[in-house]
Amino acid sequence: ADEGYKLWLEYNKIADRPAAAVYKQQLKYMIFPAESDQLKAAKAELIKGLEGMLSMHPADTKSITGGQTIIIGTTQSLKGLAVIVPDSIGNQGYLIKTALINQKKCILITAKTDVGVLYGVFNFLKLLQTRQPINKLNIADRPRIMYRVLDHWDNLNRTVERGYAGSSIWNWHRLPGIIDQRYIDYARANASVGINGSVINNVNADALILSPQYLTKIQALANVFRVYGIKLYLSVKFSSPVELGHLKTADPLNDDVRKWWADKIDEIYRYIPDFGGFLVKANSEGQPGPQTYGRTHADGANMLADALAPHHGIVMWRAFVYDNNVPDDRSKQAYNEFKPFDGKFKDNVIIQVKNGPIDFQPREPFHPLFGAMPNTALMMEFQLTQEYLGFSTHLVYEAPLFAETLQSDTYTAGKGSTVSRILQGSFNKKLITGMAGVANIGTDLNWCGHPFAQANWYAFGRMAWNPDQSSSAIAGDWLKMTFTNDAGFVSSIKKVMLQSRENTVNYMTPLGLHHIMGVSTHYGPGPWVDNAGRPDWNATYYHKADSAGIGFNRTGTGSNALSQYAQPVQLHWENLQTCPDEYLLWFHHLSWTYKMRSGRSLWDELVYHYYMGADSVKQMGLIWDKMQGKIDVERFNQVQQLMKVQLTEATTWRDACVLYFQAFSKMPVGAGYPKPE
Ligand code: GCU
Repeated sequence: ADEGYKLWLEYNKIADRPAAAVYKQQLKYMIFPAESDQLKAAKAELIKGLEGMLSMHPADTKSITGGQTIIIGTTQSLKGLAVIVPDSIGNQGYLIKTALINQKKCILITAKTDVGVLYGVFNFLKLLQTRQPINKLNIADRPRIMYRVLDHWDNLNRTVERGYAGSSIWNWHRLPGIIDQRYIDYARANASVGINGSVINNVNADALILSPQYLTKIQALANVFRVYGIKLYLSVKFSSPVELGHLKTADPLNDDVRKWWADKIDEIYRYIPDFGGFLVKANSEGQPGPQTYGRTHADGANMLADALAPHHGIVMWRAFVYDNNVPDDRSKQAYNEFKPFDGKFKDNVIIQVKNGPIDFQPREPFHPLFGAMPNTALMMEFQLTQEYLGFSTHLVYEAPLFAETLQSDTYTAGKGSTVSRILQGSFNKKLITGMAGVANIGTDLNWCGHPFAQANWYAFGRMAWNPDQSSSAIAGDWLKMTFTNDAGFVSSIKKVMLQSRENTVNYMTPLGLHHIMGVSTHYGPGPWVDNAGRPDWNATYYHKADSAGIGFNRTGTGSNALSQYAQPVQLHWENLQTCPDEYLLWFHHLSWTYKMRSGRSLWDELVYHYYMGADSVKQMGLIWDKMQGKIDVERFNQVQQLMKVQLTEATTWRDACVLYFQAFSKMPVGAGYPKPE
């Protein structure tokens, strides 16, 4: 069985006969001339979807039969039909509407470009997959973000850094001759949610990726991606001119180095004429970068940008930086290194910033760079792979995490300056915009390890398209498309999904705690870690628990990381009256007996959250058990087993953290709580 392989493109048969009959009636005929590869792919997808859901294949026609015809294409491909596409939907948007053409009622899917049509077709299929009526359609949609990119942390030996779903899907040994069906299905899945870029290799990059041997293989992948509107990008190692080009330096201001990159980039474009550009991790975690040669991030990024510009390529330059001079507070470093260069980057450079200032923790406040660089293009980096969220074992639907960051108000241009609006370029129309998700994809039959981890890939795409979409609506669509339209299943499991991230925060890092996981694997609890190799890898550096209390003081009396935020945010979080419990120990060091809003002491509150977190996993399991029979046996069983493991691990997290912190608080665990197991 292949349960899970098809992702949200299951195209399950519509069991409700009358509903299916209504759909079929309206889709009897199609006018869908498809000459280009992208239109051909769109047409093949439409047919695949309709065959799956309705066991039908609309008949190709040239004339419209009122009420029974679907017309699909661009103004050019539909020439002769007088189809008008408004400029407001842009080059990647689409219209799906009930239209009158030649006085006859029909369904029209149209766009300015072939890729817009492809997006329109996927979204039309979604209407059927989620059982929406199609007799009065009027949808105009367009992406709010330009670069919607998956970052694969895939190594050339096919291991995946922080990957928990098997090996890399890129089979270098068999490329370029063998085009695995997976590449095509991967591209279909991405296009279905509007993802239009893929960085195929790890940010901890190997210079070999730029060798001709690899470029031939990469070209074969790009050829597959292109059909689905996806551009291919590469992570590059800053010292490639030395390692691959045998130069003595990789100094970005050195003429030979500049020439080496320019030539290399010309070469890449000979293989891939629509190559997207580079992603660069520089001067971070031991990676080389411009600072290695006494230059700045701007020098490094701009040098590559100059070489890419003639080809319309971009540089995604990461702001995830920290070095060997461990500061008093690692959370401040990216801001300190980048803020001075606001406005200094070339137009085709975009700074890629993680959602929070540390590292993809279960909960972090938004990164202070958002809003701090009004004259610089900034893109979001979310992590889909669950490095700090229980790998592919724990059910954690990440959309609420994404939404929490996206809807955070930075106040940098007054109230309403949300991260979402900054990412959309609302405050500076000249800037390019983007969002990246660190992929959770591997060779596992179901792609992501946990059947529900697929929802994070899906939700990322949806939010990159429109960052203001609701987590709940996305979860509902995903459940219906992936499993079933059974209303009982969808409503119960949607609640489970929406609650799941908070559950995990509760059993791992409640009340603003962070970075207290196991050393290097980042799996399981490790609040005791105090010898991880460098201070800012230690848990103790972050929680600072002692007999007096717990938490990281980032106010003016501490590291003053708060000063990196706009004043209203600063004041809000600095003031204990207004700082939300969620961020309390991120910004404050408080005594164990500190009185919380709930009336409980800080210690009791902490214990309460740990217990609530573990208990919620138990509740989730009970709800899942009731779903037996509503979906296929295979995925039902798989999720049930995963939930049992998750419960064991949540309990371990709870007990380990409560017992560890209790050694400092010396306070009892309340009588109402079960004893640690
Ligand atoms: C985390 C992760 C690393 C990764 C790094 C990055 O630190 O543990 O494996 O390389 O992030 O984002 O560059």
